[in-house]
Amino acid sequence: MPVAKQTEIAPAEGRLGVLLVGLGAVSTTFIAGVEAIKKGVAEPIGSLTQMGTIRLGKRTDNRVPLIKDFVPLAQLKDMVFGAWDIFPDSAYDAALNAGVLEKELLGQLKEPLRKIKPMKAVFDQTYVKRLSGTNVKTGKNKFELAQQLIAEIAEWKRKNKCSRLVMIWAASTEIFLKPHAVHKTLDSFEQAMRDNHKAIAPSMIYAYAALKSGIPFANGAPNLTVDIPALMSLADKNKLAICGKDFKTGQTLMKTIIAPGLKSRMLGLHGWYSTNILGNRDGEVLDDPDSFKTKEESKLSVLEYILQPDVYPSLYKDFSHVVRINYYPPRGDNKEGWDNIDIFGWLGYPMQIKIDFLCRDSILAAPIVLDLALFLDLAQRVGMKGVQEWLSFYFKSPQTAPGLYPEHDIFIQLMKLKNTLRHLRGEDLITHLGLEYYD
Ligand SMILES: NC(=O)c1ccc[n+]([C@@H]2O[C@H](COP(=O)([O-])OP(=O)(O)OC[C@H]3O[C@@H](n4cnc5c(N)ncnc54)[C@H](O)[C@@H]3O)[C@@H](O)[C@H]2O)c1
Repeated sequence: MPVAKQTEIAPAEGRLGVLLVGLGAVSTTFIAGVEAIKKGVAEPIGSLTQMGTIRLGKRTDNRVPLIKDFVPLAQLKDMVFGAWDIFPDSAYDAALNAGVLEKELLGQLKEPLRKIKPMKAVFDQTYVKRLSGTNVKTGKNKFELAQQLIAEIAEWKRKNKCSRLVMIWAASTEIFLKPHAVHKTLDSFEQAMRDNHKAIAPSMIYAYAALKSGIPFANGAPNLTVDIPALMSLADKNKLAICGKDFKTGQTLMKTIIAPGLKSRMLGLHGWYSTNILGNRDGEVLDDPDSFKTKEESKLSVLEYILQPDVYPSLYKDFSHVVRINYYPPRGDNKEGWDNIDIFGWLGYPMQIKIDFLCRDSILAAPIVLDLALFLDLAQRVGMKGVQEWLSFYFKSPQTAPGLYPEHDIFIQLMKLKNTLRHLRGEDLITHLGLEYYD
């Protein structure tokens, strides 16, 4: 990740291919959104790269460019999309099926969406129990499947006349896997692929294929995937950016906004109970206890890290934290998330906060996919390799260098992201000290 101040940044010339693993609710909402924005019928709301600004210099300098004017990002008109899925539906049919966007809007985008047909997936039902599909690759072993992906990626890049590619995992959440001895080195990982070892999940095969093909990789689900030493060292060796895990949307987004506020005022916490009803395919997959366990691990760690019970035992020791996701088909993608937060204040007097967030999961996730695609491509052109901790802002369970605890506080994450951009462009970092205004 280290990169010198005011590094040379290669320009964003040519087309940027965005390869999406999974062509479900999140991916189709993302692609349709970009096509709608290109057509001028929608605005990129929720996207920091498109709408965000960055303050430079002193408050009195009045230098506040848009982020996209400050760093050389690829333009939306230069983005092309490819995907893999176990279902053969085009992006248009998959978007209709996901039911996130209105038919009328999708009708206007039919032409570009129909053209996106998913490539055959690397899939094994052992890792996603609730799904089965026909659009699936076959091969002698996992290593051979990886070779098929590598060949397919090269062909896709050529056909679509792309100068650069990024890959983003937006496929279903796999079952919970613990790091295994075969994940330690690239050699043991490759041997395990040849042996069809159980510890190698499909998501790892895609990540391996991306990194072997010279493509940066982001993981939008809580699966282990690229968060293993073998793939981290491959990313380092091939000078590629990686980041994950699990897009930060919905309830966890709210948690990382509210918990830092409570802590900043030294308000205590007895418990935080979160429950959701969700009726899309993601909800159906998460109804399987093994897939839910992966998600639960990702969601639970957030409060521990933000509240630091070890540092503030009288405020946060032993608080109770429960997270539930209930599959409830009538709601589709329109999730409802309830939070009951039991806090306490001066002299230990208890208070309660109730949140009822009627959210739209994929509407919150789509701009994250856009920003990650653009920032990963930027990182690549800058020469930033390995784990991109400055992109923690987008994840529930941010990947960090080994031995470092993740930063979950969204305000610190945003400051880190913007300071990274200032650093890249040779601008002063903003510390908010501000003493100079009073000299
Ligand atoms: N706000 C959000 O929507 C949100 C937030 C955080 C994380 N995520 C994660 O993002 C992922 C996508 O969410 P979604 O709502 O689009 O789910 P979805 O079920 O609508 O789409 C996932 C797609 O992945 C496909 N798939 C599964 N395994 C595959 C494989 N091995 N190769 C290729 N395709 C495969 C499925 O067929 C499906 O079409 C999920 O893992 C979800 O947990 C979503």
